[in-house]
Amino acid sequence: MRLLVLLLIMGLGDVSIGQHYSQFQWLSYLRNRWRYVGWRAMDVDCPLECDCPPTYPTAMYCHSRNLQHVPYVPSHIKYVYLQRNQITGIQDGVFDNATNLVWIVLFHNQLNSDKIGKNVFSKLRNLDLLFLDHNELTHVPSNLPKSITNLQLGHNKISKIPSNSFEGMANLTFLQLQANFIEDVGGVFKGLKSLTLLDMRENRLRKIPESLPERLQQLYLEFNNIEGVPEGFLTMRPKLQFVRLAHNKLTDKGLPANVFNISTLVELDLSFNKLEKIPTVSRNLENLYLQANKIKDFSLGSFCSTIDMTNFSKLRMLRLGCLH
Ligand SMILES: *[C@@H]1O[C@H](CO)[C@@H](O)[C@H](O)[C@H]1NC(C)=O
Ligand SMILES: *[C@@H]1O[C@H](CO)[C@@H](O)[C@H](O)[C@H]1NC(C)=O
Ligand SMILES: *[C@@H]1O[C@H](CO)[C@@H](O)[C@H](O)[C@H]1NC(C)=O
Ligand SMILES: *[C@@H]1O[C@H](CO)[C@@H](O)[C@H](O)[C@H]1NC(C)=O
Repeated sequence: MRLLVLLLIMGLGDVSIGQHYSQFQWLSYLRNRWRYVGWRAMDVDCPLECDCPPTYPTAMYCHSRNLQHVPYVPSHIKYVYLQRNQITGIQDGVFDNATNLVWIVLFHNQLNSDKIGKNVFSKLRNLDLLFLDHNELTHVPSNLPKSITNLQLGHNKISKIPSNSFEGMANLTFLQLQANFIEDVGGVFKGLKSLTLLDMRENRLRKIPESLPERLQQLYLEFNNIEGVPEGFLTMRPKLQFVRLAHNKLTDKGLPANVFNISTLVELDLSFNKLEKIPTVSRNLENLYLQANKIKDFSLGSFCSTIDMTNFSKLRMLRLGCLH
């Protein structure tokens, strides 16, 4: 009980001290802190504005405390939580001693691309997860470590992605770029051998990104301006199981015959587009969404000539509402 009260008091103390020191440069936080655990004193290298609980010796919690700078990260820390603060920039060097970092969580801050040093992340050879979503970034940070497997950049103001942004990131598995201002990506995803999920919802794409990796399983492209799908798009990506293209500008003309007639596809969302015909799909498809299109001349006959209902054992969900 005494220990608990002591820890609580220290926890409260941290908050006010943190706010006071946030006026100064991050280097001023650099200091050792003595933390008393029962009758035993333990030297815990932890910045004043954060918590480094002895029970999780490699984690540093600095979230939701009005921080304006990234505090000094001691070298033994692997997981740093900095979300929900008011951090606008990160200077080169902040993470240089923390080469063991595996996770950096920075979502819901005010990060501005012009205030992020070019080499902030470059020395973090063990970095696995980097969450930078819900910030004010206008471009993808440069020199990202090649070890990253999970990169979240959604809900920023990114409009352009330099062609070398993800170069060599052979282990990148999840890439989230949703809710940005991206119009074109060129061949930026080429070489992402491990990418299985790409989320580019709510952008300004006019076509499906080129050179999507072969391993891709889930592709989310809802709420863009895509008018068509390239010939053989799915034949070249046999692992692609979930394709979501709702709320785009797809027309029958933009869909080559049989482009979705691929046995590996499990879910296809084509709702809220301008299709007049029901595209041919494989009988392995489980979920097909077609509502809110302009599908005309709908009759069971025309439908069954395209989709063999009697033999459609796997289709579990078919939405066709709002027919005109
Ligand atoms: C990194 O660690 C060294 C040695 O412990 C120390 O002198 C230096 O100030 C640290 N650098 C930063 C940026 O914290
Ligand atoms: C990718 O992961 C493997 C296995 O964990 C590792 O050996 C390799 O170094 C990683 N590649 C990069 C570029 O970090
Ligand atoms: C769909 O693909 C299957 C398998 O490749 C093929 O047998 C079938 O004829 C195709 N459907 C149409 C309508 O072309
Ligand atoms: C269902 O499709 C299979 C494979 O294409 C075929 O062999 C079978 O005859 C079809 N059954 C019916 C009832 O159409």
